[in-house]
Amino acid sequence: MRLAVGQMEPLLVDVHENLSKLRELLKEAEDNQVEVLVLPELCNSGYVFENLEEARFAAEEIPRGRFSEELRSWSKPDRLVVAGICEHTPQGLYNSAAVFAQGNHITTYRKIHLFLNERDWFSPGNEEPPVVEFKDAKFGVMVCFDWAFPETARVLTLKGAQVILHPSNLVLPYCQDAMVTRSIENSVYTATANRVGIERGIEFSGNSQITNTTGIRLTTLPRDEVGIAFVDIDPQAADGKMITKRNHVITDRKPELYTRLTETD
Ligand code: ACM
Repeated sequence: MRLAVGQMEPLLVDVHENLSKLRELLKEAEDNQVEVLVLPELCNSGYVFENLEEARFAAEEIPRGRFSEELRSWSKPDRLVVAGICEHTPQGLYNSAAVFAQGNHITTYRKIHLFLNERDWFSPGNEEPPVVEFKDAKFGVMVCFDWAFPETARVLTLKGAQVILHPSNLVLPYCQDAMVTRSIENSVYTATANRVGIERGIEFSGNSQITNTTGIRLTTLPRDEVGIAFVDIDPQAADGKMITKRNHVITDRKPELYTRLTETD
């Protein structure tokens, strides 16, 4: 199965320009027979808002908005795409990842772990991250800063994800390395699609990557270029879960000793 990450430089609050940047990446993915495509967080809006009005101005409803429509249309007849979207809802704004496959809107994940000032514009999602089935494989979805909470990738793995799709706008210098660890500790593929560029002094780190189930980087994009990178993967390779001949990363756990993980204070 051909899996790709698309690296983009959205312009802050310029939906029109971002739509044309999106179309270029979709075209490149189509020309390369990509079946599953991951795009960065907040690709319709940019990231470093100064106030709620800016975020509102760029936001769209999913799946009615223009980005959604473009993504839905690309997913026909037999592709899957997930992209980060600044989402408008009657309850407020969410930092969301929308999944489209085979011409349908499949699900929307609303980021649960908000980074820095995101909490000034976005409400946190309050639902478990989703796993979607596509062509006999299972794909989990999380967004950017969810990387810092290993519980997120673990929950996706326990729900059956073989590949974790990870739209991002990474700024801390070690996120890509953390995703290598998420791969190893869960024995899953990960696909992190990051953005590039500088917005209001905040620099994004590019280096979008795909890791395999043992944490090997199968492909990495440069720090500052837009474009896609793809590899052919076998999602069933994630089903083994043996980290040594005698150690299974899931069944060797001791959940009875981890009860603190679910204590809230
Ligand atoms: C981030 O969560 N965008 C750092």
